[in-house]
Amino acid sequence: MIVVLGSINLDLGFAAPRLPAAGETVLCDAAAVSPGGKGANQALAAARDGAAVRMIGAVGRDAFAAPALSELRSGGVDISGIVEVERPTGLAAVMVDPAGQNQIMVASGANLAVTARQIETLALGPDATLVLQMEIPPAEVAKAIEFARTRGSRIVLNLAPAATLAEEVLARLDVLIANEIEIARLGTGRPMDIAHAVARRLGITVIVTLGGDGACMAAPASCWQIGCLPVEVVDTTGAGDAFVGVFAAALDRGASPESALHRASVAGALTCTRFGAQSGLPGAAEIDRALSRLAPAVRAD
Ligand code: RIB
Repeated sequence: MIVVLGSINLDLGFAAPRLPAAGETVLCDAAAVSPGGKGANQALAAARDGAAVRMIGAVGRDAFAAPALSELRSGGVDISGIVEVERPTGLAAVMVDPAGQNQIMVASGANLAVTARQIETLALGPDATLVLQMEIPPAEVAKAIEFARTRGSRIVLNLAPAATLAEEVLARLDVLIANEIEIARLGTGRPMDIAHAVARRLGITVIVTLGGDGACMAAPASCWQIGCLPVEVVDTTGAGDAFVGVFAAALDRGASPESALHRASVAGALTCTRFGAQSGLPGAAEIDRALSRLAPAVRAD
């Protein structure tokens, strides 16, 4: 079972002719409202890949809550652990340019009311995988990590958006997943070098996603790299979330980290072929069909 403790947003997506500079107004034809939030996206990605998933989080008592939860609900994610609070549902403005690159601003709202206590009543044990990101209060992320460690659960943290957590907290993880900007919080140099240094220092597995350059993975005694599935990029929003959710789902099924890396990389790339975070997430059959088009991860140490 996968438990995601994290954010739930409603995304307002703009297909922009270009991303605005500071002080600039840019016109586009229309905007689309769709469910999002890194936590919810990762939960749905794991569920679409066949995992049993519980989403734990918070929404407001407002009109945004139902659409924000709509895909989780129809995607078979257990949402019974999502609470309603006296803050507005998280809202994100997502601007995407013709090359698929995005700029995102999140009004956190109800996500700031999420607490680690929400997972304390769950039957977390060694057969569970806890997945976290940094769109809920960092102190609650740290508490949830400590709690899951006492239960022997596998813990996967996506350090997105970039944030700082104490090294003794990070050392309790099984897997840390970051992009190039986020991993730079933990060291200097090439992403693989930072990943390997952190993996050795903390005794964990560290993955860095590198967009069109693929991804690298470091464990204390081994390093791996993988390329990127060639796709026509429409929107990169949610690609990192697809990667995290599918990686966690694969580990949860007993896959090796390098095989999970392969599957997650394919899922991340496929997500870029459609507009929107959750509408872009692939299902297990689509990932299966595309796996042979990306060479598996290779040792890089
Ligand atoms: O990672 C993409 C997500 O970031 C969007 O869905 C948006 O809600 C923000 O949380």
